[in-house]
Amino acid sequence: MNMDKKRIHLSPPHMGDKEFEFVKEAFETNWIAPVGPHVDMFEREFCEVTGARYAAAVSSGSAAIHLALILLGIQPDDEVICSTLTFAASANPIIYQRATPVFTDSEPGTWNMDCNCLENAIRDRIRKGNRPKAVIIVHLYGQSADMDPVMNLCNQYEIPLIEDAAESLGAYYKGKHTGTFGTFGVYSFNGNKIITCSSGGMLVSSEESLIKKAKFLATQARDPAPHYQHSHVGYNYRLSNVLAGIGRGQLRVLAERVQARRANFDFYKKELGGLPGIQFMPEAGFGRSNRWLTCLTIDPSRFGATREDVRLAFESENIESRPVWKPLHLQPFFQDCPYYGSGVAEELFDKGLCLPSGSNLTVEDLQRVVKVFRQVCQATPIQKKIR
Ligand SMILES: Cc1ncc(COP(=O)(O)O)c(C=O)c1O
Repeated sequence: MNMDKKRIHLSPPHMGDKEFEFVKEAFETNWIAPVGPHVDMFEREFCEVTGARYAAAVSSGSAAIHLALILLGIQPDDEVICSTLTFAASANPIIYQRATPVFTDSEPGTWNMDCNCLENAIRDRIRKGNRPKAVIIVHLYGQSADMDPVMNLCNQYEIPLIEDAAESLGAYYKGKHTGTFGTFGVYSFNGNKIITCSSGGMLVSSEESLIKKAKFLATQARDPAPHYQHSHVGYNYRLSNVLAGIGRGQLRVLAERVQARRANFDFYKKELGGLPGIQFMPEAGFGRSNRWLTCLTIDPSRFGATREDVRLAFESENIESRPVWKPLHLQPFFQDCPYYGSGVAEELFDKGLCLPSGSNLTVEDLQRVVKVFRQVCQATPIQKKIR
């Protein structure tokens, strides 16, 4: 590996000017706890930015999904439908509830949940006597799923919808923010996300009572009493006031971060889009992606090298890239779970690569990435012609 060159990371944190000020304020006021003014203000400001009605700041996106499932009453042996092309954290909380994930494939146009697969899954599970208790839809890599048909299906079959918008803060569907359509929306502020608190998450809903209950469960389910009184199992899932300060600073630069990530995508597309066998993740006409990660597929029969060849070439130049998520139905842990699809997600995994996408990449960084990518292309003149 070429360690002389500075490492280019996939999606590093990018602080603005205000975060440290808010953190200092937490120290100065001694609000060093999972409660405090930054937590309250972060929730309020998050609702203003996204248009969500009520929000609970929590310790991670995973915690937010878990709380959503608990509040929907997911029990052992229930089934919950989930996109297969996603990070394991989308489905792990289903397992925390001792329920079973049922995975559905992606559509090629958005890489998100294919509505036909969703409908097949719902019908078949009902036929088999196990009506799905919830759907978790993921807005992958910052692009909204096609929400109208999904919402219609969920309404028709009266199945509550959880939107995993962990990757899609700042992304819209028909002018409305992702994460604000379902019974619950979930966001992540993990270190690699478009904005970060180092770790953290947000659960949103248009039902105030649900968010009140989420906050109750997330603070160890303490009943009102002077002593410690508990009538439910509780969780330690609230966000620290110190980290909420970072989140407040980050929210102020969200629009700039989206702009920078979209500019990365445009740069890569302009520089690499003409190479044979390269296809960038499409952007559906119904929305606006935050382009959290720039992703593309590489057809080795035309490019003359595989996705893995490219990834390894990057690594040898100290550049981090990642294969597109391995579909969850292929993961050893989830391989016995039901799956409905026709291999779209599998092909995206096979050929897909995520390029360095940080909002703090310099032009030199971007040029370094492009140069290495071009060097790997071994397309013959014939392969180039059939582009
Ligand atoms: C799609 C998706 N869902 C859920 C999560 C979980 O979020 P967290 O890491 O904050 O628990 C992540 C990211 O980590 C994610 O990318």
